[in-house]
Amino acid sequence: MSKPTYYITTPIYYPSDNLHIGHSYTTVAADTEARYRRLKGYDVMFLTGTDEHGLKIQRKAEEKGVTPKEYVDEIVSGIIKLWDTMNISNDRFIRTTDDHHVKTVQKIFKQLYDQGDIYKSEYEGWYCTPCESFWTETQLKDGKCPDCGRPVELTREESYFFRLSKYQDRIIEYIESHPDFIQPVSRRNEMLSNFLRPGLEDLCVSRTTFDWGIPVTFDDKHVVYVWVDALSNYISALGYGSDDDGDFRRYWPAQLHLVGKEIIRFHTIIWPAILMALDLPLPEQVYGHGWLLLDGGKMSKSKGNVVDPVILTEKYGTDAIRYFLLREVPFGSDGVFSNEALIARINADLANDLGNLVSRTVSMQLKYFNGVMPSAEDRISCGPEDEVIALTAGNSAAIDEAMDALQFPTALTELWKGISRMNKYIDETAPWVLAKSSDPDDRRRLAGVMYTLLEGIRIVSVKLEPFMPSTPAKIQEQAGIAGNADILTWESSSKWGLYPDGAEVKKGGVLFPRIDAEKQ
Ligand code: MSP
Repeated sequence: MSKPTYYITTPIYYPSDNLHIGHSYTTVAADTEARYRRLKGYDVMFLTGTDEHGLKIQRKAEEKGVTPKEYVDEIVSGIIKLWDTMNISNDRFIRTTDDHHVKTVQKIFKQLYDQGDIYKSEYEGWYCTPCESFWTETQLKDGKCPDCGRPVELTREESYFFRLSKYQDRIIEYIESHPDFIQPVSRRNEMLSNFLRPGLEDLCVSRTTFDWGIPVTFDDKHVVYVWVDALSNYISALGYGSDDDGDFRRYWPAQLHLVGKEIIRFHTIIWPAILMALDLPLPEQVYGHGWLLLDGGKMSKSKGNVVDPVILTEKYGTDAIRYFLLREVPFGSDGVFSNEALIARINADLANDLGNLVSRTVSMQLKYFNGVMPSAEDRISCGPEDEVIALTAGNSAAIDEAMDALQFPTALTELWKGISRMNKYIDETAPWVLAKSSDPDDRRRLAGVMYTLLEGIRIVSVKLEPFMPSTPAKIQEQAGIAGNADILTWESSSKWGLYPDGAEVKKGGVLFPRIDAEKQ
């Protein structure tokens, strides 16, 4: 039987040489879900990429005296490097300057024009170049852009329009009959009451005032404007509209478009309308996560309150940063990034709870059994194994439920219950006391304790992989089970009793060094 497919996307990023930790938030979350689905046996397609056209880019390139393509090429290679640093496992990377994307967008635009969904008219509005947004007179704040406060220009131009208004009722009906389509629920209500029910206006989808964009094939004064270009990436990346559309047939419709909350409107109104016009099925879900805030505001380069993900990962390690992003904030809500909170999490959850559990266990196993697991007949139970089993092998359903709902903090909390329970189990069973006893049964009890710990650690290491991709291998190396593929599958992580007799632990480096908050 073929595996079920799971197509997951992030937004395509504007080429910025200053991607901050807020940007990494979407990608790390999507990566975690993609890794989890792969481990669960899905045929995963995980897409990310860059959104490279527009006046802003054209102007920046002009300032630097390079072509827009040269300008974006350099930045995009930096973005690809950043995702590498964050250990992002995307299957594909799309650039809106890719040839095949350009062709697909041109084809889509032409089709929509031919069938009457796109028509020519005239547009007048106040344009904010840095935000690439048009505003009406009444939307302006003191005559300036309501978003960034910078000056706007009155622009009037011949434009093509997409008949968004025509799809309003169908979109409302779709959203109402598909309760999971927009998540979290609050955003669904917001879309319905703030945008859809008051009525949609047709959407301007071409520009003549700049040329760094995809040319409209039948009217070369025009370039395709932002959203038709950008949103189409989700299908052009799969070969839609080309001769090579096998992936499109295989993976579309997407299971999940993961986006930040400020772009949910484009993904749940404009994108569905385009898909309806193309007679294509809609994605199963669009999830709008919250923002990572700094000093109460959204991070942005123009505000100067940016946290550089490269510096953070160099300082604390990629897995620690990923853990923090996924653990700290309920997914869907806004959350605050602070160095204090980051250090507190690293010290408490990673250095103390997880790191100590592994290092104490390995040291005891070396001390008491020369590192080698005694065989089953030489081990007996010693107290509260049941709770350890329930909170390690037994938490798979709870983790699945959390991952289905993209509740990463909940999944991690479940995992940490097992980790904490094992630390408590060490204190309860006091292996150092058993080790001193001359009763042969105590020696067998000691072996039983070590088995419980190493087996629990095996399971935790497997379940950690989606969140912290490099740490599991380090744990497995120390636990003496590296490369033992059969007992490191996701499926095996809900089974108790697979740690092999005779496996030999190895002393390894400190997994997460404690951070001196004062010094930092
Ligand atoms: N190019 C558009 C998306 C087009 S998709 C067809 C875009 N790009 S972006 O670079 O501005 O944003 C990319 C992602 O980063 C978005 O999901 C956005 O929400 C996310 N974030 C940017 N800053 C953020 C925070 N401070 N916190 C959380 N996510 C943030 O939008």
